[in-house]
Amino acid sequence: MAKKIASARIGTESSELLKELNNSFPFDKALYREDIEGSKAHAAMLAYQGIISNDDLASITNGLNKILMEIESGEWKLEGDDEDIHMAIEGRLTSMIGDAGKRLHTARSRNDQVALDFRLFVQHQTKEISSLILDLIQTCVDIAKDHTTTLLPGMTHLQHAQPINFGYHMMAYVNMFKRDYERFMSSFERNNLSPIGCAALAGTPHLIHRKMTASTLGFDAPTLNCLDTVSDRDFALEILFNISTLMMHISRLSEELILWSSSEFRWITLSDRHATGSSIMPQKKNPDIPELLRGKTGRVNGNLIGLLTVMKGLPLAYNKDMQEDKEGVFDSIRTAKLSVMVLDEMLAQMKINISRMESACMVGHLSATDLADYLVRKVGMPFRDAYHIVGNVVNLAEDQGIDISELSLEQLQSIESRIEDDVKSILNNRASMNARTSEGGTATVRTKEQIEFMQQWLDKISG
Ligand code: ARG
Repeated sequence: MAKKIASARIGTESSELLKELNNSFPFDKALYREDIEGSKAHAAMLAYQGIISNDDLASITNGLNKILMEIESGEWKLEGDDEDIHMAIEGRLTSMIGDAGKRLHTARSRNDQVALDFRLFVQHQTKEISSLILDLIQTCVDIAKDHTTTLLPGMTHLQHAQPINFGYHMMAYVNMFKRDYERFMSSFERNNLSPIGCAALAGTPHLIHRKMTASTLGFDAPTLNCLDTVSDRDFALEILFNISTLMMHISRLSEELILWSSSEFRWITLSDRHATGSSIMPQKKNPDIPELLRGKTGRVNGNLIGLLTVMKGLPLAYNKDMQEDKEGVFDSIRTAKLSVMVLDEMLAQMKINISRMESACMVGHLSATDLADYLVRKVGMPFRDAYHIVGNVVNLAEDQGIDISELSLEQLQSIESRIEDDVKSILNNRASMNARTSEGGTATVRTKEQIEFMQQWLDKISG
C-alpha cells in the first residue's frame, strides 16, 4: 500500500466516510494558483539560502509551471482522492520530478502554507471587488450628474418628508460605496503580511529568509509572530464583514428600486433585461434582480456569522475546525462580485421617470418645514411655536384635500396673519430643495459640489 504523503504514522487506508468529512480538495482546489505561486516563491528562497540546490529549484519551478498549465488547460481536472490542494500539487510534482518534489516542503508546514494561500487569495479578491465597486460608483455618479434638478420626496419612515433632488439621493449611496471601497482597501493594507516560513506554529531551525518570500509574493513584510499567523483567520473575517456591509448597502438600494418600480411609485422603469415575468399572470414584470440582491445579503451574513462561530474559543494554534474557513468566503466573494456587476448594469440601463418623481412631491406637504422656518425668520417666532402653527396649516390643507402649497394667501392668513405674499416663493418644492444650501445639503449647487468632489476622487484613484 502506498504511504499517504502526509501521514508518517497512519498505517491503514482511511475510511471512505473520513475522506468525505476530512478532504477539502473538492473546494480548496480553488486555491491552486496561490498554492503554486507560494511554492515557487518558497523554493526560490530555499535555493537562495542554500537549503536546496539550484538544480532542485529548476526542477521544482519547471514542474510547478507545468502543473499550472495542466490545470488551466483542463488536462488535470483537480479531481481525486487527495486530502487537499496542497497534498494534491505536491503529490503531482513528486510524481513528475521525484526527490526534488519531496524537498519542497522543507521549512514549511501545511499550516503556514494554507495561511499563505488563503491570504493571497483574499488579497487578490479584495483588489478585484474594490475595482468593481469603483465601476459601480462611477455609474451612480453619472446618474447623479443627470439629475441634480430632478425633484423627489425625500423620506423618513417611508413617509414624505422634504423635497430633495435625485442626484443627491444617488450621492448618498455613492458615499456608502466609497466607504465600502475604503474598508476593503484598509483591510488589504493591514493584512498585506506574509505567513510563509511560520511552519507548523513556532518557526523553523532552517536558515530561511522570510523577507525574501514576502517581497516575491507582493507582501509588505513577513508577519511578526508565527503562532498568531497559523492560528488566526481575522483577515478572512474582515473580507466577510466588508462584503456583508457592502451587500447591506446594496440591499437598501435594491429595496428602493423594488419600491420605485412598483405601480404605486413608477419612479423608475427597469430595463426588460433586468426584469422577469410571471408563469401565470401575463401582465407581470417582476423586479427579481433587485429582490435577489436583497436576498443574497442573507447568505453573506450567514457566512460571516458562520466563520465567527467556527473561530470562537479555538485554542492556539491550528485546529482542523479552521478548514471550515473557506467555503463561506468563496461563496461571499462570488456573491459580492456578481451582485456589484449586476447592480451596476441594472442602474446604467434603468429609466428614470422624472415627471412621476416630481409629481409625487405634491403629496405630503413637503414644504411644511420651510413654512415654519419662514415664520422664524420673518417674525422672529420661536421655532416650536412656528411648528405648531404650521401643524394647523397642514390640517387646513388636509381638510381641503390639497397640498399646503396650494392654499391661498387668505387661507394661510386665517391661521397666521403675519404671513405675507412672499410666502409663495417659500411654499414651493424646488425652492425648498434649493434652499438647503448648508454643507452636505441637497440644494442643486451643493449636490453638484459633492459630485465634483467624488469625480475628482474617482479620477485620482483610477488615474
Ligand atoms: N486543508 C487544510 C485546511 O484547509 C490545510 C491545513 C492542514 N493542516 C493540518 N495540520 N492538518 O485547513
